[in-house]
Amino acid sequence: MWLSVSRVTSDAPFIDDASKRPQIVKELKMATQYSMIQPQAVETARLLGICFKLSSMTAVISVSLGVYMGIGSDHTLAPVHVHLNLVGWVSLFLFGMFYKSHPNANGSAAVVQVSLVSIGYIVMLSGLAGLLLTASAAFMPLAVVGSLLVWAGFLLFFILVARTARTGPCG
Ligand code: HEM
Ligand code: HEM
Repeated sequence: MWLSVSRVTSDAPFIDDASKRPQIVKELKMATQYSMIQPQAVETARLLGICFKLSSMTAVISVSLGVYMGIGSDHTLAPVHVHLNLVGWVSLFLFGMFYKSHPNANGSAAVVQVSLVSIGYIVMLSGLAGLLLTASAAFMPLAVVGSLLVWAGFLLFFILVARTARTGPCG
């Protein structure tokens, strides 16, 4: 709302022009009304922000790791590279595409779903990297807990997709 209002009020010269006042009042009313239907849109924007920003940031990291592995010919972290790419980049991006094209699937359950996978793969791959680099069993719990979070996130995604198909077109 404040963005819209500040946009309107930033056209300050118009306010001095009496003939423009009805138009400005109308715009302000529309901005206010718009703000009343905004919470859902704001939540969706945040959700898509997480999906697209985190996935593209992960892509930079995973591709950098790929380049490092290629140049150094040390493929120890290949499984980390694979899952960073396919879970953190591709899957997270696809979740965002799904939620963008299916607004009726959005909501707090979608935020939980994306958070489960996001936190999950970061924890899982931190554990896996630790395991591969040090062979210390101390990293095992991270890998296990992280993979269970990822698993739960994918399961919830399936449930949300099925629910979306019941409440509207899911094509
Ligand atoms: C500059 C970009 C990239 C470089 C330099 C790179 C490099 C590598 C290297 C060195 C390996 C290890 C191969 C092995 O140990 O056998 C690998 C494996 C793999 N990479 Fe990448 N990668 C890049 C981008 C990507 C992207 C964008 C994806 C997916 C979206 C991807 C998916 C995979 C997969 C699935 C494997 C496993 C393949 C297998 O085990 O046969 N990579 N990559
Ligand atoms: C809970 C989540 C997951 C766990 C615990 C998991 C675990 C594993 C394990 C244990 C391997 C064998 C690694 C090896 O032989 O070195 C593997 C390979 C692989 N996974 Fe996953 N995975 C998960 C999710 C996914 C997802 C969501 C994707 C794709 C979207 C994926 C794509 C792959 C691919 C392409 C390989 C073969 C890589 C290669 O050959 O080097 N994984 N995964």
